[in-house]
Amino acid sequence: MRNDENIMVTGATGQIGSELVMSLRERLGGSKVVALGHRREPPESIARSGPFERGDVTIFSELKEIVERHDVSQIYHLAAVLSAVGEKEPQRAWDMNMRGLQNVLELARANKTKVFWPSSIAVFGRGYPRDLTPQETVLLPTTMYGVTKVAGELLCDYYNRKYGVDVRSVRFPGIISADTPPGGGTTDYAVAIFYEAIRHKHYECFVRPDTVLPMVYMPDCLEAILGIMGVEPSSIRRRDAYNLNSMSFSVSELVKAIQRFVPSLEVSFNPDFRQDIADSWPRSLDDRAARHDWGWCPKYDLAAMTKDMIAELTRKHELGQL
Ligand code: SER
Repeated sequence: MRNDENIMVTGATGQIGSELVMSLRERLGGSKVVALGHRREPPESIARSGPFERGDVTIFSELKEIVERHDVSQIYHLAAVLSAVGEKEPQRAWDMNMRGLQNVLELARANKTKVFWPSSIAVFGRGYPRDLTPQETVLLPTTMYGVTKVAGELLCDYYNRKYGVDVRSVRFPGIISADTPPGGGTTDYAVAIFYEAIRHKHYECFVRPDTVLPMVYMPDCLEAILGIMGVEPSSIRRRDAYNLNSMSFSVSELVKAIQRFVPSLEVSFNPDFRQDIADSWPRSLDDRAARHDWGWCPKYDLAAMTKDMIAELTRKHELGQL
């Protein structure tokens, strides 16, 4: 990454955005990374370390004005409605996820901007193998969020072929992190359980104990983003999105891993509509293309991630920040 470039991160107050902004600012300098949020107040760390703009990604003129004023040459477009909220508000999910992405790709076409956009395991739904899900298989999602991710992948591929837009994407599994909690996703239980283990020693889980989903820890998630954005365009042989695999575990296995540190943790189960979503997603993925093309190589497994999460959240709890 050249340090004469200006970067914009949309969804900058969200789970990935808040950490990606700080990571990019550490590498490039605060003034080089514009954080774009919409409704939520930015955390102090983001507000103090560089430019923060408010804007609606679904309004082209707003986005264009900010991109041009800051002379942005790379956009990390993370603003989105996730799967569970998307089932409650499918029209908002479609508008936000599709209009936002198309606006970003249109700006990228006009200004020769490089783009990162996250796809998701939600592109899968029916009629595909749930274990070691192939890179290329049936994409029949069961959620509006998944529909927007499949359509988004196709749109990215189209803008690359038709206009040469340098857009890069991965299919993220659930993301676990200790900084900003996710909101409105199906995989959120794997984060919430840590917070509740530290705060209340009890968690009511909205999926069954035998539910297995693929997950990735935030440091590896950031490595994926910086890794795929850091290689030469010729290395990126797919312009839809790469499968990523890191760790997979059932809720029971996660509970046991946390109980090593918090033996008194109790978990009860009350599955809701998110169970069906979880049951439609892969348990693990074949990510050989990502490993081969741009060197994807995650470092954290369940044990290492759990140890780190507990240490981080315990520290925050002691400081009164939880
Ligand atoms: N974590 C997302 C969700 O649960 C999946 O991409 O909606």
